[in-house]
Amino acid sequence: MKHNVSFDFSGRHVVVFGGTTGINLGIAQAYARQGAKVTVASRKAPNVESAAATLGPNGFGVIADVRDDEAVGAALAQAVARHGPIDVLVSGAAGNFLAAAADMSSNAFKVVVDIDLQGSFHVARRALEHLRKPGASLIFITAPQSVVPMAYQAHVCAAKAGVDQLTRVLAIEWGALGVRVNGISPGPIAGTEGMKRLAPQGPEGDALVRDMVPLGRMGTPEDIAQLAMFLGSDAAAYVSGTVIACDGGAQGQLTPMVTAAARLAQTAGA
Ligand code: NAP
Ligand code: COA
Repeated sequence: MKHNVSFDFSGRHVVVFGGTTGINLGIAQAYARQGAKVTVASRKAPNVESAAATLGPNGFGVIADVRDDEAVGAALAQAVARHGPIDVLVSGAAGNFLAAAADMSSNAFKVVVDIDLQGSFHVARRALEHLRKPGASLIFITAPQSVVPMAYQAHVCAAKAGVDQLTRVLAIEWGALGVRVNGISPGPIAGTEGMKRLAPQGPEGDALVRDMVPLGRMGTPEDIAQLAMFLGSDAAAYVSGTVIACDGGAQGQLTPMVTAAARLAQTAGA
């Protein structure tokens, strides 16, 4: 899907946590194309290097695991030393796998909560001192699981529900500083790690998407990037404390897709 809307982020510094692959890399690349200085952060050096290389001369990459509060602080300090105060902060690092709650170890539940929810808190709180205020925009990448209960997703449902509430609370607490805080809830986005893990591949997956998505197609990283740029721009100057779905009208009704993927995984493992 081609988009004809453009933004001007010249001179702005955009930091994307979990920005080295998939949807979040798409967001980072879109901001870079519109003139921003962009820093991406994640755990794996090869991902960080290859992502930064796609962001043009003002691309920068830093390594940090969002579960490590100190490492997040150090990564942000590096980013600010390179590109100055942060205008837009995107927090989208996440982990996911299909597992029935009864089969999930304590650590399996915890690992997702630690990355998605605790990690989002680390990123936001550590970034606060570095945000250019007033005017900065903080964007959390959440998921339909935050409001729609899905089997085999107890960990993600719990974690992303927390991310939505974190969004709303920080919007209240940081509004007086001139910081806007919002969330984006993507629908099924083609070609991503998330879809590889949660949807049947091939014709079965395509048919489910046609049934579930009124606009009749999976989304693209660029669809999500356009909304992220709107929320990071002055056009959204009075938008804060809200979570916006970008899902082709699916309204979170993706449960049959996840159940079908889990059934296939169980069959494969049997
Ligand atoms: P992805 O390609 O797996 O991206 C995840 C990113 O987070 C990668 O850059 C990964 O890089 C990083 N990451 C993972 N664990 C991390 C950690 N502990 N610390 C720091 N970075 C970490 O996933 P995606 O499918 O594009 O999803 C991106 C976001 O969209 C997620 O928040 C997801 O919940 C949300 N979402 C996706 C879909 C979809 O259709 N895919 C739908 C709804 C919501 P490293 O491995 O190098 O750390
Ligand atoms: N089913 C059940 N349990 C699982 C599992 C699965 N498919 N995959 C991992 N776990 C459990 C592990 O067994 C472990 O629990 P244990 O210590 O009781 O054995 C726990 O989860 C942590 O796994 P580990 O592999 O040590 O975690 P990690 O920190 O190396 O990786 C993940 C984190 C598991 C979330 C990994 O999938 C990841 O890095 N994901 C990032 C990419 C991603 O998920 N993208 C999609 C975003 S929507």
